[in-house]
Amino acid sequence: MTDILQELERRREAARMGGGQKRIDSQHAKGKLTARERIELLLDEGSFEEFDTFMTHRSTDFGMEKTRPAGDGVVTGWGTINGRQVYVYSQDFTVLGGSVSASHAAKIIKIMEMAMQNGAPIIGMNDSGGARIQEGVDALGGYGEIFQRNIMASGVVPQISLIMGPCAGGAVYSPAMTDFIFMVKDSSYMFVTGPDVVKTVTNEVVTAEELGGATTHTRKSSVADAAFENDVEAIAETRRLFDYLPLNNRAKPPVRPFFDEVGRVEASLDTLIPDNPNQPYDMKELILKIADEGDFYELQEEFARNILTGFIRLEGQTVGVVANQPMVLAGVLDIDSSRKAARFVRFCDCFDIPILTLVDVPGFMPGTSQEYGGVIKHGAKLLFAYGEATVPKVTLITRKAYGGAYDVMASKHLKADVNYAWPTAEIAVMGAKGASEIIHRADRDDPEKLAAHTKDYEDRFANPFVAAERGFIDEVILPRSTRVRLCRAFAGLRGKQAQMPWKKHDNIPL
Ligand code: HXC
Repeated sequence: MTDILQELERRREAARMGGGQKRIDSQHAKGKLTARERIELLLDEGSFEEFDTFMTHRSTDFGMEKTRPAGDGVVTGWGTINGRQVYVYSQDFTVLGGSVSASHAAKIIKIMEMAMQNGAPIIGMNDSGGARIQEGVDALGGYGEIFQRNIMASGVVPQISLIMGPCAGGAVYSPAMTDFIFMVKDSSYMFVTGPDVVKTVTNEVVTAEELGGATTHTRKSSVADAAFENDVEAIAETRRLFDYLPLNNRAKPPVRPFFDEVGRVEASLDTLIPDNPNQPYDMKELILKIADEGDFYELQEEFARNILTGFIRLEGQTVGVVANQPMVLAGVLDIDSSRKAARFVRFCDCFDIPILTLVDVPGFMPGTSQEYGGVIKHGAKLLFAYGEATVPKVTLITRKAYGGAYDVMASKHLKADVNYAWPTAEIAVMGAKGASEIIHRADRDDPEKLAAHTKDYEDRFANPFVAAERGFIDEVILPRSTRVRLCRAFAGLRGKQAQMPWKKHDNIPL
């Protein structure tokens, strides 16, 4: 028996060593942790239950029969994060470059299916040279099977991808179908074709970092939701994100203990809105002042900064926040901000996370680049996402709510449940000056008359009361008591039941 146990321990130790000390050292030299070190940091201490430690590939081509490392380049299993279950896989770059064989894929597929059956999220840590070149179509088939599981799991359990090394070729499409992608600065990249192929096909000379590094994907392409300095920070932030999310689409998000007074009055909010309507202010200040313990988990911070998206807690409960940011492009809606917010709204809706919308929007961005880029279609995404969302929706207009953007930003007409406005709200088809120039065209060149018309328009519409008289605004609230009003609004909606008409699925303008 002792021999048998020793043999088990010897095999386990060999599996734990992955591709050997030399390759582990080289991984560390690149500033990267190993697959197992990452799992250890991600999960609660001692909670990891590993599967398929001894699984190997079955390939015999190109001398592969001589190397059959246990685990085949990926560590899989489940564990807990702050006591809540999660399934994980972590690719081991020290074993054949973390490349994906049929067996490697089968291990990932196994935990994805278990995650769906058991209603727990999936976190994938990607560090791989892509499809195992020696396996050909078996490896491609493996990827295809993973993609199909990503699709099946979408909207059933949250899926989070961490990119912690290379992620190239079709391999990028599994993370792309998950809910959130985090990257590590300077050590991870994602692209469909690498710099060499780009040079051959298009003659462009570009580095891997420029083509698909963390900066590119958080600022330009919006493929990644955030980027962090190193593996440790990326993993710590993943644990923090996980705490906001429900385990699956039938579970409520976790309620955390909170130490902040619900009735906390913030007198400074009474003066947040500047006297001059064209002067910006920082919408983040409002978010931080209403959130439990001033904690805001922002996503896509570097992309389309004219809209803010992320999670806060109110009375310990997760709330998804979408907010126009007057500091950037006056908070206008455009192609990028509409896409960013629409995807976030849809995530919240699939996982039963209530949505708070903070509105200060001068309208949609005009211009040929927007029209040629399809702002009609992309703006419609946000409109559609809000209109189809059946989770509790609470909206607060702080200042401008002009034109179509008024409708889009979770207005009463899109079935928002509670619509508040500050006394500083202006709900109109457009700004007073522009409106007067159009309806009093004849007086356009007479500054005095135009000023009088502008004042008249302002007096009539630059307030929340016309909308409140019609019931489009449920209540005009004091800025200082915003936190308690929002907490009460969401508390009143905890039993909300709403259904859309039966359909196979909708046809959101993609
Ligand atoms: C088999 C691979 C591999 C792969 C790396 N390795 N990628 N083995 N299949 N795809 C092995 C290397 O041979 C090497 O083995 C070890 O992993 C480490 O790789 P290095 O090249 O030494 O590391 P590094 O210099 O850091 O470069 C990493 C890399 C490079 C940039 C990822 O390895 C690379 O370009 N690999 C190929 C990438 C690729 O073209 N993949 C296919 C993409 S297409 P030894 O034994 O020397 O340690 C694809 C299709 C997906 O993925 C299909 C979905 C539809």
